[in-house]
Amino acid sequence: MSTYSKGLEGVVAAETRMSFIDGEKGVLEYVGIAIDDLARNSNFEETVFLLWNTRLPKKSELEAFRGDLRSRYDLPPSAIDALRHIPKSAQPMHVLRTMVSSLAFLDAHPNANDLPSARDKSLTILARTPTIIAAFDRIRRGLNIVPPRKDLSFSANFLYMLNGEVPTPTMERAFDVCMILHADHGLNNSTFTARVVISTLSDVYSALTAAVGSLRGPLHGGANEEVMEMLGEIPSLDAVEPYVMGKLAKKERIMGFGHRVYKAIDPRATFLKTLAKQLAADTGNQDLYEKSTKIEEIMAREVAAKGIYPNVDFYSATTYHSIGLKLDLFTPMFAMSRIAGWAGHIIEQLDGNRLFRPKAEYVGPHNEKYVPIAER
Ligand code: CMC
Repeated sequence: MSTYSKGLEGVVAAETRMSFIDGEKGVLEYVGIAIDDLARNSNFEETVFLLWNTRLPKKSELEAFRGDLRSRYDLPPSAIDALRHIPKSAQPMHVLRTMVSSLAFLDAHPNANDLPSARDKSLTILARTPTIIAAFDRIRRGLNIVPPRKDLSFSANFLYMLNGEVPTPTMERAFDVCMILHADHGLNNSTFTARVVISTLSDVYSALTAAVGSLRGPLHGGANEEVMEMLGEIPSLDAVEPYVMGKLAKKERIMGFGHRVYKAIDPRATFLKTLAKQLAADTGNQDLYEKSTKIEEIMAREVAAKGIYPNVDFYSATTYHSIGLKLDLFTPMFAMSRIAGWAGHIIEQLDGNRLFRPKAEYVGPHNEKYVPIAER
């Protein structure tokens, strides 16, 4: 009774209690709470607890979880040493993938897959990811590494380690909201990748390493960097119309638009649009915001009928640029947050695992004879 669905479109391949998406209505919830509600009222650390425990924490539970996460920010000296040996020209997503993998060397029991061990490893990797990204960025800029501060939140600590100064409350909040919005999203490609790898009873490091590799692709998390490149290529507001129309005429994609699941506007894009507008005005980046809204207008006129709307990556480009992040850190920011979702799915997969093993439909020839090499 097999049916083939290219790109597995419409195939239900796992059960999850973490995020719910209604692509027709543009709804996203984490454990039943609307993403908008969480973005307004929660914070990233609490959101991670929510995803991993499928309920909101009590005050004391949140404090304990936060304390545990923050106590793991430090990278062991050998990992710092490894970062110093990576070529400065390396791309941060390649660095992150390699470093997540290499954290297994520092674990006495890297293959332990019982649920408490998987949670423990996930928490350590989540806590160390910002440290890896910030330390590599400072090394490549020829700056001293800034050690983490355990009195700072996940988001504030990252910006502190990156820039050497504690962010303003506005910047910390803006960044934290981005982290909340990117934390989980059903069975997207990288999450599926993580679940497929862990379903062999491989290990948390392997599953997360593979997920980072998947996220890097321009059809997935890499799109936020491509959006920024596109905004840079468009010299003025007047140039937006010919640029977009030229691309559509050549059947090229406008990055940051379209989604396999959403056929209405992605609710994360709606929230990020408001955030991008405020931050762009505060930081003198209105031109980026105006170009973005112009692109959105043209796309609405030309392709909205096909269900193509801005996705999470579109306004995150202006948001991250206004926060002061360099272009090649945009996708690592996505990864830094999505590790929460990947890890949650790894834990769900391990809890009642069954190996993923779909089939391929063979479309080649049959009954061919082997031809000796001299006769070919
Ligand atoms: N610009 C122009 N046309 C598009 C776009 C776009 N961004 N996306 C889809 N289309 C068109 C596509 O050309 C096709 O048209 P037609 O039916 O006339 O041939 C139709 O829409 C369906 O496209 P598809 O490739 O079959 O749809 P899909 O579900 O496989 O693609 C997607 C989903 C995200 C890969 C695609 O929309 C895309 O390439 N978008 C640009 C990259 C991007 O922004 N990716 C981030 C996705 S959201 C966050 C994340 O997952 O990380």
